[in-house]
Amino acid sequence: MTFEAKTSFEPFRIKSIEPIGLISKEQRQRAMAAAGYNIFNLRAEDILIDLQTDSGTTAMSAEQWSGMLRGDESYSGSRSFFKFREVFSDISGFEHIFPTHQGRAAEHILFTALIASSKRKDLVIPSNVHFDTTRANIEINGMEARDLLIAEGRQPMLDFPFKGNLDTQKLKALIAEVGADRIPVCMVTITNNAGGGQPVSMQNIREISAICREAKIPFFIDACRFAENAMFIKLREPGYADKTPREIARELFSYADGCTVSAKKDGMVNMGGILAMNNEALAERCRNLMVVSEGFPTYGGLAGYDLEALAVGLNEVLDENYLRYRLGQCEYLGDKLLARRIPIVRPTGGHAVFIDAGAMLPHIPALQYPAWALSVYLYELAGIRTCEIGSMLFAKIDENGKETAAPYELLRLALPRRVYTQAHLDYVAEAVAYAAAHKNEIRGMRIDYQAPVLRHFTARLSWIDEREAA
Ligand code: F0G
Repeated sequence: MTFEAKTSFEPFRIKSIEPIGLISKEQRQRAMAAAGYNIFNLRAEDILIDLQTDSGTTAMSAEQWSGMLRGDESYSGSRSFFKFREVFSDISGFEHIFPTHQGRAAEHILFTALIASSKRKDLVIPSNVHFDTTRANIEINGMEARDLLIAEGRQPMLDFPFKGNLDTQKLKALIAEVGADRIPVCMVTITNNAGGGQPVSMQNIREISAICREAKIPFFIDACRFAENAMFIKLREPGYADKTPREIARELFSYADGCTVSAKKDGMVNMGGILAMNNEALAERCRNLMVVSEGFPTYGGLAGYDLEALAVGLNEVLDENYLRYRLGQCEYLGDKLLARRIPIVRPTGGHAVFIDAGAMLPHIPALQYPAWALSVYLYELAGIRTCEIGSMLFAKIDENGKETAAPYELLRLALPRRVYTQAHLDYVAEAVAYAAAHKNEIRGMRIDYQAPVLRHFTARLSWIDEREAA
């Protein structure tokens, strides 16, 4: 007889713990009112379970913490840099590897270097979906960011294995429309954050690479969640079931000319980023820019101990048991919500579960921000912090201040790596189910103050009175 356990469990045990915000509902209501009904303004110590982001919130391992003591803090040529470089070179195969202080710094340096070397000024950068900071770094440099996600990726409820894929026909059409000399680089984001971590298939990456090579356009991967994407390929794409996540990651990177990485995700650290590439001339320009804004190219805004922790984290993240647990954790929470008839984006991605608050709270109009209202309610009810991805974030506002709602009203529950246990997720599912059962208690919200740009960070709101709503 063999024992085949049906219980899934965290593939680690806990050595060091920290308190979570066990305060009363009344205290939370007061904290929320003081925060202007904006979860960004809360004090983190007043939060019980923080699902605001998976970025920089990872719990490091004993190996990482002990590695930090071995960090070499030399200004240049630190031993920790060479250790980090060796590890990432083994995974990615890229020739030139620079650490940066976080992902957006790598993007900034890459795009600045690309512009400097381009004869054209009217540049367009395609991607499946550019992350906000990538888009901002492109637009601030006067270039255009173009999202070319496949149609399946835009249908939240559609079950499709690789909803992060880039539409290669659209890429070919874009090259034909604007000409390759206006496209200094083509990017692909793995996994696609905008859908909660929807993966991109190896087949898609191979095709993008072939199109770019033929048109002589450099192809870069935004590889923040490369290990989660590799594991999805192993589980879902024919021909990869017997390959290790490391082998899959190596193959992924082999089709690209470089990558930008926020190490705060699959780097398993709380701060850091990576910029890597093969082209010598481009690397030379990046190296020069590095010195101006990030620091000497062997530390790039990080301490030696950060580089040690990153070197260890990059190996730990590729452990198959860890990745199975990681993707399983998101699926577990997603399945629990589905079992309670909560509408969520299907299939669950690699780092988050998205609740369709528009469908869950049909009595709240989009421009009374149902997902935002749900985020406030869940905090007051159960101390859970989530993140709105709906009209507060993406409504279009014309010159007269008139708003047009975003296409979806989603609430992101992002899971920090190795931080919360299955019991924490059970608690979250129970709280969301309670909210759904008492949805008539949740009212719409109105904005009392907003900044002209990125309003969600600082906005102040209030509940709409029932009489007003009627
Ligand atoms: N690219 C992707 C796909 C990201 O998800 C992020 C960050 C970045 C780039 C920028 O990296 O924060 O290190 O500068 N995403 C975080 C999130 C903020 O909550 O999803 P960074």
